[in-house]
Amino acid sequence: TWTMVNIVDEQVERIRAQVGSKRVICGLSGGVDSAVAGALVQRAVGDRLTCVFVDHGLLRKGEAEQVEKDFVAATGAALKVVDAQERFLAALAGVSEPEEKRKIIGREFIRVFEQAAREVVAESGAAGEEVEFLVQGTLYPDVVESGGGTGTANIKSHHNVGGLPDDLQFTLVEPLRELFKDEVRRVGEELGLPPEMVWRQPFPGPGLGIRIIGEVTRERLDVLREADAIARQELSRAGLDRDIWQCPVVLLADVRSVGVQGDGRTYGHPVVLRPVSSEDAMTADWSRLPYDVLATISNRITNEVREINRVTLDVTSKPPGTIEWE
Ligand code: XMP
Repeated sequence: TWTMVNIVDEQVERIRAQVGSKRVICGLSGGVDSAVAGALVQRAVGDRLTCVFVDHGLLRKGEAEQVEKDFVAATGAALKVVDAQERFLAALAGVSEPEEKRKIIGREFIRVFEQAAREVVAESGAAGEEVEFLVQGTLYPDVVESGGGTGTANIKSHHNVGGLPDDLQFTLVEPLRELFKDEVRRVGEELGLPPEMVWRQPFPGPGLGIRIIGEVTRERLDVLREADAIARQELSRAGLDRDIWQCPVVLLADVRSVGVQGDGRTYGHPVVLRPVSSEDAMTADWSRLPYDVLATISNRITNEVREINRVTLDVTSKPPGTIEWE
């Protein structure tokens, strides 16, 4: 029978056969998929793997710290953290179109990995060697929805599939390419990753960059990061983390709405709460969250985040709406 132990053993063998004695880097996003892919490759090739976590400035509150602490503690893998905030912001300046954002982010990730790979070789003292392989936590649905599968879809370029640059120097290692999220979680458990990591809600590689409708700027990211942290905190506090698939908070940065806050008129921005329930993210339904939880989130966001004066709820299923707005 097809068990998680089989999947782990088979993938470890496949990875060893693909990689041989070469060096490998793995891009970690903070999410489940890349953590499980990294842990699998670590099991297969040990210290010939270096994990690279790119802080692209599009992360949520506390994300970088969590990867540095939890992933390393669970796997013992070598980790390199790259601060690439300036680089990503500069590349995204002036860009509003979703696919363009995704392609830029996908390209910048690879450029940062290339630089990191050169540093890994230099630091190892193995001059003349190269990092030939890049591990990615691509799942089956990512492949399908980026138009790379047998389906007809070409819905959006997931940063690690359709968003890759044409001149990619690495050979990809994608041990999760045939799996769905629930299988990936079970593989993660099998590999001994902690439950907080395995059961984390999905967060897209392009991060908050595709949750700002309009141009991505540092100020807008700061606003969205605060609102997102409040929503996540209240959903956890209400014990709803495992009931919902995820709850993107989307900043309508180019839309302004009139409000009254404190004792004056404000002209701020709306955010959208997008709580969804799903099995595999291919389809989703909007989550019927309790009204009191929605009320608390709304009150806190409008009280604590000065730039936001309106909180709205997205009640669209997938299809027709995708989970992320971009
Ligand atoms: P959509 O918006 O296509 O999202 O309904 C389906 C699931 O995929 C996540 N997502 C991404 N994950 N890179 C990722 O790693 C991406 O570029 C990306 N785009 C969407 C999304 O959060 C949802 O769980």
